[in-house]
Amino acid sequence: VRKVELELIVLGLGNVARRAARLIVELQDRVPFTCRAISVVTARHGHMQSDDGLDLRAVLQRVESGGRLGADAMGTVPMIADLCARRAMAVRERRLVCIETTVLNITDGEPAISHVRAALEGGAHVVSANKGPAAFAYSDLVAVAERRQRAFLFEGAVMDGIPVLNLVRETLPGVRIEGFRGVINSTTNHILTALETGETFDAALARMQAEGIAEADPSLDVDGWDAAAKTAVLMNALMGARVTPHDIDREGIGGVTPDEARAAVERGERLRLVASAGREGGRLQGRVRLERVAAADPLGSLTGQQNALLIRTDVLGEIGILQRDAGLTQTAYAIVADLTTIARRLGS
Ligand SMILES: NC(=O)c1ccc[n+]([C@@H]2O[C@H](COP(=O)([O-])OP(=O)(O)OC[C@H]3O[C@@H](n4cnc5c(N)ncnc54)[C@H](OP(=O)(O)O)[C@@H]3O)[C@@H](O)[C@H]2O)c1
Repeated sequence: VRKVELELIVLGLGNVARRAARLIVELQDRVPFTCRAISVVTARHGHMQSDDGLDLRAVLQRVESGGRLGADAMGTVPMIADLCARRAMAVRERRLVCIETTVLNITDGEPAISHVRAALEGGAHVVSANKGPAAFAYSDLVAVAERRQRAFLFEGAVMDGIPVLNLVRETLPGVRIEGFRGVINSTTNHILTALETGETFDAALARMQAEGIAEADPSLDVDGWDAAAKTAVLMNALMGARVTPHDIDREGIGGVTPDEARAAVERGERLRLVASAGREGGRLQGRVRLERVAAADPLGSLTGQQNALLIRTDVLGEIGILQRDAGLTQTAYAIVADLTTIARRLGS
């Protein structure tokens, strides 16, 4: 089978993008596409472009050894527009893809929203692991994607590589999602589990930071913002809501002590940060709350970085998906899966 050659504009080259770059190489015999990165943009490491394709291995080595790629991008939005104009052939053939992996800005989702809009307007598909665009501007960006007939995919934004958005889109035709309940932040679940064994809050958080799982600003995890952003993404994409993370009734896990976590276990319960959504009095409402969950509850059985989402549907009742191993490879895989979706649509 002839593979589609995708041209990539890569925004952000942190933990997720670097793992994705390597995973694409590792899985190259199994995916229906090849990739040529024509531009890489970072915040502090400068940027680099080549219409002939960058040597990604050398680029990764340079960034990982603390080196710079080149000058700072003189405005990422105009640069995206310029790249799209320059790669007219790839745009015409629908082979240009922008991968958005810059950090989450919980105030308003920018500048990632502008990055995504510029790429879609320029005729590129977008794959985002960043939650900001779908959490803050889902309906606007979907409208641009539909008008330009390009894909806007963001499987990696929620539960890493586990297919939640793809599961509903591809396999549940005609089914209405009425609500959900889940543990969807790995860092806080890891900390709550570690507290049960007597480990300190700070030591458990430090481990998540060392593994590249915690957000660049870990208060986003601890204060429940990451879970609130994911809740907004799920509500917008699956339930037709128009919410932002600021509309979610949110609490974090700051201040939970090992004694409290152990006392819950002794009562046959567990403290878990639970994200949920449903209709209340005709209105869609999302929540992120520290809850006492029965140990026998599917969410009570999750330890360490494990995640799970229970989705309430009208036709099928409740269905659930559980991720035993969460990590960078899982998030990187979501990017591979979204690129595969784009390549398959091109192939058909
Ligand atoms: N880590 C995970 O397990 C995980 C899981 C799911 C989703 N995500 C999401 O995926 C995204 C990336 O996560 P990560 O762990 O890879 O973060 P990271 O290691 O902090 O990397 C972020 C990258 O974005 C660059 N960047 C930041 N602001 C930028 C801007 N305005 N323009 C261009 N580049 C910019 C940074 O450049 P410098 O290197 O120069 O600072 C860095 O290369 C985040 O939105 C995160 O929420 C992460």
